[in-house]
Amino acid sequence: MSQTLFEAARTAMEKAYAPYSKFPVGAAILADDGKVYAGANIENLSFPQGWCAEPTAIGAMIMGGGRKIVEMAVIAEKLALCPPCGGCRQKIAEFADAQTRVFLCDDQGVQKTMTMEELLPFSFKTEILG
Ligand code: THU
Repeated sequence: MSQTLFEAARTAMEKAYAPYSKFPVGAAILADDGKVYAGANIENLSFPQGWCAEPTAIGAMIMGGGRKIVEMAVIAEKLALCPPCGGCRQKIAEFADAQTRVFLCDDQGVQKTMTMEELLPFSFKTEILG
C-alpha cells in the first residue's frame, strides 16, 4: 500500500463526524483512474441515518469519475484493526474483484491485508441482475 493511500485514510478519519459513537473511521480508495478518494463516517442524531466511512469514500470515487476500486485502506482511531462492517463489505464488493486488497490500518500503517474474497466469501452474485 502506498503512503499516499494510508495518509488519505488517516486524514479522512480526522474529518469524521462521529459525535455519538466518538469512533472516527477513515477510508481511502485508489481507483482505476489513478486517483485517491477518501471518506469518513458521518453520523446523525437519528442514529440509523448515519453512515460509515467506506460509502463516503465510494461516493467520492463515483462522483470523481472513478469506477473501480484498485486498493482500499480503512483506519479507525480507537481500534488497531477495524474490519469493515457487513454492509460495507457488500458495498465495497460492488466495485472490487475477488483479489482486490483491503488494508486494515492503525496510525502506524497496515496491520492486516485482506482480499475482497476473504472479507466477503460466498457473496451474492448473479448474472440475472447484471
Ligand atoms: N463505522 C465505519 O465507518 N465503518 C465500518 O466499517 C465500521 C463502523 C462507523 C459507523 C459509526 O459511525 C461508528 O463507526 C461506530 O459504529
